[in-house]
Amino acid sequence: MLAVIGGSGLSQLTNLDISHREVVRTPYGEPSGAVTFGQIGCRPVAFLARHGYGHTLAPHEINYRANLWALWKSGVTGVISVASVGGIRSDLKPGDLVVPHQIIDYTWGRKSSFYEGPDSKVQHIDFTEPFDEALRRHLLDAAASLELAVSDHAVYATTQGPRLETAAEINRMENDGADVVGMTAMPEAVLAREIGLPYAAINLVANYAAGRGDSCNGISFNVIDGILHESIVKVRAIIERLVCS
Ligand code: HPA
Repeated sequence: MLAVIGGSGLSQLTNLDISHREVVRTPYGEPSGAVTFGQIGCRPVAFLARHGYGHTLAPHEINYRANLWALWKSGVTGVISVASVGGIRSDLKPGDLVVPHQIIDYTWGRKSSFYEGPDSKVQHIDFTEPFDEALRRHLLDAAASLELAVSDHAVYATTQGPRLETAAEINRMENDGADVVGMTAMPEAVLAREIGLPYAAINLVANYAAGRGDSCNGISFNVIDGILHESIVKVRAIIERLVCS
């Protein structure tokens, strides 16, 4: 069973035929909400709204450990993350879709490991390739079969938020090799790796990153909401194709 963690613009999967919801208790506290179970086509899918069902949790307030643990406990076998990003690379514009292949982590102070505390052994997991390549391929194949354009390589810079970045910060991230910027891939991706769940992401470019394109004069969240609304339809179709193929 695949799980989808939905971000801004995807607080529900409208093509999910819901069977039930479950509040999962975890050793790490409360997940963002109940896990929603259902079917897309004839296949089971679990869904979790990353920011809570009322979109009340900011990126730095999300209990990523509880979310990943709750999905793992529910028996899911892989996780697709859906999240919006700002576009840094010059060919990326609002409305574009990206399946990233790498991550740079600029977050701080987040609980980003299951391996901590007096009862836990020290563990250093391999994270050379932060996304599961097979799951990434499934996303790209599903998009290709729907003739939807998706960028198949992007370095995702994860910032702490909730504020957006300064133009100088975006310049620095570009120098570091980042192509898109968002606030949630870390520690989500590493916790999925630690708990043994294949993890891949599909990102919607909601805006030009700070200081780029029409963001030179600031970023308007009204515009972002409109863009998200349009491109989330494509993301739902890709997930449906992936699940049912
Ligand atoms: N920066 C960080 N996160 C984001 C952005 C951005 O410009 N757009 C959407 N999520």
